[in-house]
Amino acid sequence: MGALEDLFSSFPSFRGPVSFSFFIAIFTGTLKAHRLIGKNDEAPYHWEAFPRLNGFYNGIRSLVSYKDWIPEQQLPPGTKFKIHDGPPFNPQVVNPFPKFTSDNYLKEHHAVQICYLDEDEKHPAPDIYAYPGIPANMAAPFWGDYETLEIAPNRCYERFGRFGPYGYSYSREEGGLGISGHSTHAGAEKVQAMVDKVDYRKVEWGKAQKRCFEKNKKRFNGKNAASGRVYNKRKLPRSAFVLRTWTGYEYSDIQLLTMRAMINELSLQSGGEYDVHLLVHVKDNGLPIWASKEVYNRILRENVPEEFWGIATLWSERQLETYYPGPFLKQDNVANFAGTDIYGVYRAAHFALQWFSQEHQEYDFIWNWEMDLRYVGHYYEFLNGASNWAAKQPRKFMWERNSRFWIPEYHGPWRNFSALVAKETTEGGETPVWGPAQFRAGKYEALPPPKDTKPPTTFEKDNYEWGVGEAADLITFDPMFDPSRSGWVFRDDVTGYDTSVAAPPRRAAIVTVERLSRRLLNTMHEETWRMHHTMFPEMWPPSVAFHHGYKALYAPHPVYFDRNWSLDVLDKTFNKPVTPADSPFGRGEHNMLGSTFYYNSGFSGALWRRWLGATENGEGGLKSEEDGTDRMCLRPLLHHPIKHEAVE
Ligand SMILES: *[C@@H]1O[C@H](CO)[C@@H](O)[C@H](O)[C@H]1NC(C)=O
Ligand SMILES: *[C@@H]1O[C@H](CO)[C@@H](O)[C@H](O)[C@H]1NC(C)=O
Repeated sequence: MGALEDLFSSFPSFRGPVSFSFFIAIFTGTLKAHRLIGKNDEAPYHWEAFPRLNGFYNGIRSLVSYKDWIPEQQLPPGTKFKIHDGPPFNPQVVNPFPKFTSDNYLKEHHAVQICYLDEDEKHPAPDIYAYPGIPANMAAPFWGDYETLEIAPNRCYERFGRFGPYGYSYSREEGGLGISGHSTHAGAEKVQAMVDKVDYRKVEWGKAQKRCFEKNKKRFNGKNAASGRVYNKRKLPRSAFVLRTWTGYEYSDIQLLTMRAMINELSLQSGGEYDVHLLVHVKDNGLPIWASKEVYNRILRENVPEEFWGIATLWSERQLETYYPGPFLKQDNVANFAGTDIYGVYRAAHFALQWFSQEHQEYDFIWNWEMDLRYVGHYYEFLNGASNWAAKQPRKFMWERNSRFWIPEYHGPWRNFSALVAKETTEGGETPVWGPAQFRAGKYEALPPPKDTKPPTTFEKDNYEWGVGEAADLITFDPMFDPSRSGWVFRDDVTGYDTSVAAPPRRAAIVTVERLSRRLLNTMHEETWRMHHTMFPEMWPPSVAFHHGYKALYAPHPVYFDRNWSLDVLDKTFNKPVTPADSPFGRGEHNMLGSTFYYNSGFSGALWRRWLGATENGEGGLKSEEDGTDRMCLRPLLHHPIKHEAVE
């Protein structure tokens, strides 16, 4: 959550002497600002010596087909490319779903009923568009890849195709947002001709989602699945996609477009596989939102845009103090670096999610999502791809793979990387994790792990079979590392375990963006209410999964860097820190400033705003796009953090 980053950045001591530059870098999102101030009297970061990559900024008049594309990392700097008069391809509908009407699909599944934005069924869930090509000389991602996560590798997205269907390019009088006035337009008329101008002032997302689910109820697992009838068709799990917001949050126009995209692509287009929810933190503890419907509704109306009222749930820290009375004794805390209260959202963001999940046991999975993420691409394709990939992974060496960054250009394909991790673990004399973690609980009782996570055989006898086909209980988007071997400042914020024995073994993943299964959430809930255990939010779900033998995976999604890192330096820096202090999750985290995904990535925001058409550090913007190769077109990409976004 955004608040979490704000907390990090307000801790000067945690980064030592360069913290101020770091603070600026987060708030401006620019590497330049970080650079000017960061180097007052200090040596530049080692990675600043690598040359900049510039292919990201090549626009739609430079597109080449995927098979002709050569990543910038493989080219000499400044390699020339052909510039067309307009985009050389036509935009195409993005449809990442199985062919719902095909005989093959219908043989195994129930029919999918089409969902609409409106009750009169005049506006079906809109399509989005992408170009079937890639900007010439665009860089390849350094971590992760597309094919592995089942994301189409051969297309790119620009503003009009991505956001046009949600109101980006038509006027407020017509029910859009009309914010494309300052954008270049080459080829945009082709998208605009295909877009149905929906009057979004009239859309009620809560009702639209509900109608969609009701129509498609038959497709899903459910408490009320008809009994006594023979169904030989597969039932699908359902997921909640939970956006963590708070009172006082300002919804920018781009945020509105982003939220419409989430609901349309995850819920309506999929025939109800997901429900999108807003989980709204009411910051004023004095408000009795649980006692009065009137108070609840007033706070909702004052703090959430009207179109989303129907998907919002309010909570407050005061409410959760009652829900989880503890006691969480101070003497049972190893180290409270934040210095804040245990019920504060900084240290217990998961309490609200656990409560939400108890209230919504109908969901098999819950995605925890932050407000300052932006995704270029189709949401369903991304989440479904990560989920499918995770289900296919074996448990053998899972935690060891989870702790490393996969650099395809350096390690080779995923299976080669997996083999390498197995080799390194064995040769390094490490004992690989197998089943629930064992540790001494001391004078307090430990919650025993569930029966169904016991390994079916020994580590040696397992031929990469255990776990294959099993849905993951936890999916994260950054590695799950051992905090005790890192310099991460919150590594010891562990509460409720016996402090007279060694702290329990733990895992952590930075940025609390993750998918959690119902059974993992139920265990987190029980650990909290019954055992009075908790940890810092980025450590809690991975550690509970670790203790209880749940299946947890770091999904290696594509992450880019703004510079042409040499690959062996990249591998050494991120995968082989010499001491815990050098770990990228600690003092070494400046290494992430030039990446597109981490809690402090400056490049992420800069790239996102350039994609929207803004000027960053005196580069980009309308004139430069017009004089150059027009608007940017990015391959699917998860940006974090986006601290501000301007369209003009
Ligand atoms: C990137 O680095 C590689 C070597 O690691 C080099 O061959 C290539 O020319 C460089 N490209 C750019 C654009 O810097
Ligand atoms: C991946 O491993 C296979 C053998 O399992 C090998 O033939 C291949 O060259 C490797 N690829 C890379 C890029 O290292």
